Amino acid sequence: MLVEKNVPLQSLNTFHIVAKAHALVRIRQEDELQELIVDPHWRKVAKLVLGGGSNIVLTGDVKPLVLKVEIRGMRLVRESAKAFIVEAGGGDSWHDFVVWTLEQGYPGLENMALIPGTVGAAPVQNIGAYGVELQDRFDALDAMDLETGQIFTLNAAQCAFGYRDSIFKHGGAPGDSAHQRLGLKGRAMILRVRFALPKVWKPVLGYADIERKMTEHACTSPSAMQIFDWVCAIRRAKLPDPAVIGNVGSFFKNPTVSPEQCADIIARDPKVVHYHMDDGTVKLAAGWLIDSCGWKGKTVGHAGVYEKQALVLVNKGAGVDGAGATGGEVMTLARAIQTSVYERFGILLEIEPVVV
Ligand code: EPU
Repeated sequence: MLVEKNVPLQSLNTFHIVAKAHALVRIRQEDELQELIVDPHWRKVAKLVLGGGSNIVLTGDVKPLVLKVEIRGMRLVRESAKAFIVEAGGGDSWHDFVVWTLEQGYPGLENMALIPGTVGAAPVQNIGAYGVELQDRFDALDAMDLETGQIFTLNAAQCAFGYRDSIFKHGGAPGDSAHQRLGLKGRAMILRVRFALPKVWKPVLGYADIERKMTEHACTSPSAMQIFDWVCAIRRAKLPDPAVIGNVGSFFKNPTVSPEQCADIIARDPKVVHYHMDDGTVKLAAGWLIDSCGWKGKTVGHAGVYEKQALVLVNKGAGVDGAGATGGEVMTLARAIQTSVYERFGILLEIEPVVV
């Protein structure tokens, strides 16, 4: 077990924020983690699990021991009558896994192509895009309890998935409800994730951007590969590539309001982008709310609002060696956006990434 000291994290978070980990261990196999947990010194130390760093905002040097997940391995686990059960390691790249499943002839993840980050981080925020969420294809995951070293398996119900939410985002905070206190935040490392990809595949096409591609290509029944290509093209056109411009994807969740609240906002702003949900609530496009408050292109220091998608905050620093945005600048900008959207619409936007 090698504990690296004072490790620069700039290349390990997709915002490319400059910060250091006081100590970092790379976990390539689960026994390396078990070795650490039985060690009398490291056992008691606070720990932070780091995947691809694509959903994290670093506001300073990281004092907890950083556990960098590097467990890999994609495979077909078994076939049931209805599905291929496929598995990837927590440290595998999500996008590489999507590509691998399609190459192997197991479609189902194509709508979630090009989402940055690792497979292990994907269930934490129940990633989703273009009408499909991770929970729609999820089978089970194996995780390790960071206190005891025990490995346990959770099914979808046990993960308590919600919109950009799961049991891994809750636990112990003073304001949390009793249910949330039972959460696993900071208490487990996701080692492997399994997905059930249906043998009878049906494309998921409802999303406006996908429908536009169908019209453009005069195609009414696209293949999974076709959808994969379209999703990659759509994302490349409107979302910044983290390898080029630091970002963590959507910075806020799309808020949900009651039909009455929505009617009130429509009365003031008829153009508000909104979607009626199956449970009777209405989801508003946070990007539109921020955009209509005039935030596109605005900056605080080197942190800025992306010109093509107001829901995305970016690091306008001069690349990996440049000064770049600090976590403080990003959070100052985020709070100013929250205040302005609240003052105009009475809605408090919830920050989506994990702030450390
Ligand atoms: N819009 C604006 N101005 C903006 C941004 C958006 O008017 O600056 C409008 C768009 O025109 C569109 C609507 O808002 O009518 C929604 O925008 P978009 O289709 O880009 O999707 P989104 O709701 O902003 C969500 C996810 C994305 C996911 C896309 C596609 C969340 C928080 N974000 O974004 O996920 O890729 O849908 O499914 O739910 C992520 O979570 O990091 C992420 C990128």
